[in-house]
Amino acid sequence: MSDLLAKISSKQAHVVVIGIGYVGLPLVAEFAKAGFRTTGLDNDPEKVRLLNAGESYIADVPTSDLVPHVKSGRLDATTDRAVLSKADAVVVCVPTPLNKTKDPDMRFIVSATEAIAEHQHPGMLVVLESTTYPGTTTEVVVPKLTEKGLVVGKDIFVAFSPERVDPGNLVYKTRNTPKVVGGSTPRCLEVVQALYSQIIDKLVPVGSPEAAEMVKLLENTFRAVNIGLVNEVAIMSRKLGIDPFEVIRAAASKPFGFMPFYPGPGLGGHCIPIDPFYLGWKAKMHGFEPRFIELAGQVNESMPKFVVDKVTDALNDDSKAVRGARIHLLGMAYKRDVNDVRESPALHVAKMLIDKGALVTYSDPFVPEIHEEGLEMKGVGVRETLEAGTDCVVLLTDHAGFNYSEIVHLAPLIVDTRNALRDFIGGNIVRL
Ligand SMILES: NC(=O)c1ccc[n+]([C@@H]2O[C@H](COP(=O)([O-])OP(=O)(O)OC[C@H]3O[C@@H](n4cnc5c(N)ncnc54)[C@H](O)[C@@H]3O)[C@@H](O)[C@H]2O)c1
Repeated sequence: MSDLLAKISSKQAHVVVIGIGYVGLPLVAEFAKAGFRTTGLDNDPEKVRLLNAGESYIADVPTSDLVPHVKSGRLDATTDRAVLSKADAVVVCVPTPLNKTKDPDMRFIVSATEAIAEHQHPGMLVVLESTTYPGTTTEVVVPKLTEKGLVVGKDIFVAFSPERVDPGNLVYKTRNTPKVVGGSTPRCLEVVQALYSQIIDKLVPVGSPEAAEMVKLLENTFRAVNIGLVNEVAIMSRKLGIDPFEVIRAAASKPFGFMPFYPGPGLGGHCIPIDPFYLGWKAKMHGFEPRFIELAGQVNESMPKFVVDKVTDALNDDSKAVRGARIHLLGMAYKRDVNDVRESPALHVAKMLIDKGALVTYSDPFVPEIHEEGLEMKGVGVRETLEAGTDCVVLLTDHAGFNYSEIVHLAPLIVDTRNALRDFIGGNIVRL
């Protein structure tokens, strides 16, 4: 262990990050910047090619954060798992999706762990960062890494540290976001703290990997449940003739005990719609029924349909049917100013409208094309489309770059699901 600690403190440790996507790419940039020899290991040859060319493919990572380190030879990428045999520290950032029955799909964690086990050696630190159910590190990762007789806390060191990256956040980046760490043993905790203290300003140690795994799920379940609550409040408020956004804005003036969440067309991204189900799955395995998670899931998943109903009613008020209507969707990304469409509610809205016979187009400055969930679409220009004639615009993502006054001026009818048009008055605006 002292050898590994010495390598970490002298920055001689070779860090390998498995999975260089939204989470892994910022991390390799940070390790390389801190002076570590860093390699990104990914199955995707295109990401490997781009990183080796010093080109970023994630909006939050400027190319200038990669180029100097790639040029100096400190940072590279590979698809060859054999690089793991040279690694002193391995950080796993692979996807953790749900399968069709909404159970955890552990294929990526299992295959990454198998690759590490194949190339492992004494004096190695392995950190899992992928969001997952409590018990994964202890029940899935550790058994594989100890199969050949290595002892955790003595020969190899294992920890869980959840990633908190918030895509598009201009203030909180990898370094200044406090990081929770939980080691399989006290020595594992010591080693993982030694590594991360080189790239993160503030660490928050907890007593076990299970606690660290649970922290992440609490954070994201907290968001999912509160968004579910506020979506329900929005629907309820409108039925009572009250503007929910006015209510939330006023409630947020309370300096304690209230935190604003905002209604919208549904949950999106790789975290909030998925992570609570990881927790729910594990709870059910132990005979516990997680009612808040299920209910929030139901409310949030009903929102795209609620939006489609709003569009249908709004067109109906104009004596038009959805079938044959020219409907333009503004924004396909799951949130403002990012290019990520995974789980985006806009995809569900688009599919439902197309299924009803609408002629659907979209514009999104961050998403030139869609090849997701059976949709094959190319983005079009907003102004040209509106000038050519539409029946309804549905504002699904409030990107900062949209010219809202022009859109309000040109669109005959707009369903605003994000309250982006709060400062506009117009009979053509239908609000969530
Ligand atoms: N995106 C976010 O905002 C965010 C935030 C916090 C936590 N997380 C969690 O972090 C994890 C990673 O998410 P992401 O958004 O970075 O995913 P991603 O899909 O952007 O990147 C994952 C990468 O892993 C690669 N990969 C998969 N299996 C591999 C294997 N066996 N060997 C090598 N490479 C492999 C994929 O090719 C892909 O490039 C997930 O568990 C996610 O829930 C994501």
